[in-house]
Amino acid sequence: MKLVLSAHHLEKQKEFRHFAEEEMNGNDQFPRKNLLKAGKRGYMGLPIPVEFGGQGEDFLTYILLIEEISRVCASTGVIMAVHTSVGSFPLLYYGNHEQKEKYLNGLASGKLLGAFALTEAGAGSDAAALMTRAAAVEGGYRINGCKLFITSGGEADIYTVFARDDKEAGSRGITAFLVEKKSAGLIAGKPEKKMGLKLSSTTELRMENLFVPLSNRLGAEGEGFKIAMSLLDGGRIGIAAQGLGLARASIDYTTNCYREKEKRGIKTGQQSAFILANLATRLEAAKLLTYRAALLKEEGKRCSKEASMAKICATDLAMDAAIKCIDLCGFDNNLSQYFCDAKATQIYEGSNQIQRIVVAREMLKE
Ligand code: CAA
Repeated sequence: MKLVLSAHHLEKQKEFRHFAEEEMNGNDQFPRKNLLKAGKRGYMGLPIPVEFGGQGEDFLTYILLIEEISRVCASTGVIMAVHTSVGSFPLLYYGNHEQKEKYLNGLASGKLLGAFALTEAGAGSDAAALMTRAAAVEGGYRINGCKLFITSGGEADIYTVFARDDKEAGSRGITAFLVEKKSAGLIAGKPEKKMGLKLSSTTELRMENLFVPLSNRLGAEGEGFKIAMSLLDGGRIGIAAQGLGLARASIDYTTNCYREKEKRGIKTGQQSAFILANLATRLEAAKLLTYRAALLKEEGKRCSKEASMAKICATDLAMDAAIKCIDLCGFDNNLSQYFCDAKATQIYEGSNQIQRIVVAREMLKE
């Protein structure tokens, strides 16, 4: 496996860095403008095949995009990551021809925003315990239930919703549905007040007698849990990339502070140098794990273990780097932002405790 970035990857990385640093705007609202600009450049459908309106780039290129975006704005990073890997890939991998025709072009061009609705109050880490019900009715299904902590809730146009159509069948009694924002009976709650990622919208999503036509069932009845899990394998690599971006933000910022101090003749000490060197070493290790998982995914291989390892390593580093850099530089605006943004990366798309369960289970199978 080749773990060195190709000339094409390096060129794209430079382009993404320029976009993130020079073209994205920071404000205190949902970053719709950033997303529109990203859509115009093809960044909302980077790994979607050209025939469906995407750019046909490989998964690693998409990972480099999320890393660069998240280094500058982690909120935009998570919105784009969720939109692509668990918002658009459901259609690419599991959609039938009509569903792809109807939605995938819009998602890939950024005209539509995608989101993923799995989590519930009693089913966060134990996703198979979800209670949202889908009852078969003439022409489709009636869905009732409540989802929690939905990234881009209220803002997204298409949600992949997971609901139970068989009470007795455990994880095999769950089915996936494509739900449009404008559907009667779909109600997004107020955005959660969060410690970080404040530009992204995170809401409850209630479904009250929501009718979903049969044509919007994704995959077969009972396949929903496996669909969710396989999508999350890719999603977790995206969150690892978000962790890489955030870790780099803290490390770059602190290195610059120290460079400035040295220029002014202020001694910075060996202890600080050791801390920075350790963080930089861990960053390279986290990159290798993340890029390796992306390459496996691109090859179409099962990469649950590698994706989980990448997420653990990169997002724990993002948190740790923010804390250690605050120790070195103080709790200024930039570092406190990275600290507050990093915490969620250890929690969503499966907490890092869940990632350790995935790794350990895969180790026992080997
Ligand atoms: N790919 C395909 N199939 C898979 C799979 C994968 N990665 N992982 C499991 N499966 C299959 C299994 O093979 C099994 O199949 P059979 O029924 O044929 O045997 C079935 O799914 C059930 O698997 P498990 O017995 O392993 O399932 P479990 O109930 O023990 O759960 C878990 C495993 C790993 C703990 C899972 O519940 C999990 O990942 N929890 C975390 C949930 C999560 O990540 N939520 C994220 C929410 S989305 C989000 O955060 C996005 C956002 O907005 C930022």
